[in-house]
Amino acid sequence: MDDLTDSFLIDGTRVDGPVLVTGAGGCIGAWVVSILSRSGVTVVACDLRDDRARVAQVMGTGRAEALTWETCDVTDAGSLNAICDRHGIRAIIHLAGLQIPFCKADPAMGARVNVEGTINILEAARRLGLKRLAYASSTAVHGMPPGGPVISTLYGAYKLANEYTAQVYWLDWSVPSVGIRPNVVYGVARDQGMTSAFTTAIAHAVQGAAFEVPYGGALSWLYAGECASAFVAAICRDGDGAPVFDLNGSTMTVEAGLAILSDLVPGHRITTTGTPLPVPPDLDDGPIRGLLGDYPSVTPEAGIRATFEAFRRG
Ligand SMILES: NC(=O)c1ccc[n+]([C@@H]2O[C@H](COP(=O)([O-])OP(=O)(O)OC[C@H]3O[C@@H](n4cnc5c(N)ncnc54)[C@H](O)[C@@H]3O)[C@@H](O)[C@H]2O)c1
Repeated sequence: MDDLTDSFLIDGTRVDGPVLVTGAGGCIGAWVVSILSRSGVTVVACDLRDDRARVAQVMGTGRAEALTWETCDVTDAGSLNAICDRHGIRAIIHLAGLQIPFCKADPAMGARVNVEGTINILEAARRLGLKRLAYASSTAVHGMPPGGPVISTLYGAYKLANEYTAQVYWLDWSVPSVGIRPNVVYGVARDQGMTSAFTTAIAHAVQGAAFEVPYGGALSWLYAGECASAFVAAICRDGDGAPVFDLNGSTMTVEAGLAILSDLVPGHRITTTGTPLPVPPDLDDGPIRGLLGDYPSVTPEAGIRATFEAFRRG
């Protein structure tokens, strides 16, 4: 179990106080709280519900149960501020959000959670004078304005609003932040969202079950541990400005991913439709690496194998 996060642990003294992680029960959140907590950093995990199932998948049930966990709706600014005060929060990693299908199903709720929730986080950071805030944007912003090659979604529109909002918080009130746009994340705990299918496919291969990945061709492969490490690296230093970065990981085809899976499970019954996804497959990680330095990077071979091994262990 520890081998999932061992290579991502940091020197905990690089973080100067308790870190609030919103969306801690989600995929990236599960990895972020596992890495921080195992690195000896004081973490306050925060989510709508106290559901530690994904965290337990990443760092084990015992450690997940031992976490400090606050239930809070990010649209509730009063509760959010009370949590920050109660725990003396010094940094925030803001991951809570509704993904593409959920924003489409309930646009007003999507805006409340994704946009108003992010404003509440920025307000908390302003009130507390925080110098360390990282928040999740998305490569879906490349679909704005509509009409280009990248799919346009309400989700992308909301995430772009957040990026501009964060930049105005810097201009008007010197609230620093780092916006990170993860591309296609895979790995343990990635079980929902438009691009979670390859992780589902690995789980099916372990069971010997058939599964069709509803897309194919070249894709970003961003291992969940690498993605979480970028967020962690972003709060290991005081911010300056409100930069925003793409976070792509590797670029490879889904078909090549299936070939890697064949080495692990010869004769697996996973297929692909071959339909290209309307998302950019090869964004540049140079700028984020330039600011945040040398957090670990994971090849698709290593990431698929680690995910496979974890699912096989159960
Ligand atoms: N996974 C990806 O490929 C990907 C890609 C780009 C951007 N992102 C962004 O990164 C962030 C984390 O992604 P993820 O894959 O971990 O998502 P996820 O859906 O697995 O987790 C999101 C978490 O947010 C919580 N949440 C939802 N509404 C909330 C509310 N009102 N108050 C508090 N918590 C709430 C959910 O309960 C869930 O645990 C999200 O903002 C997402 O938009 C993810």
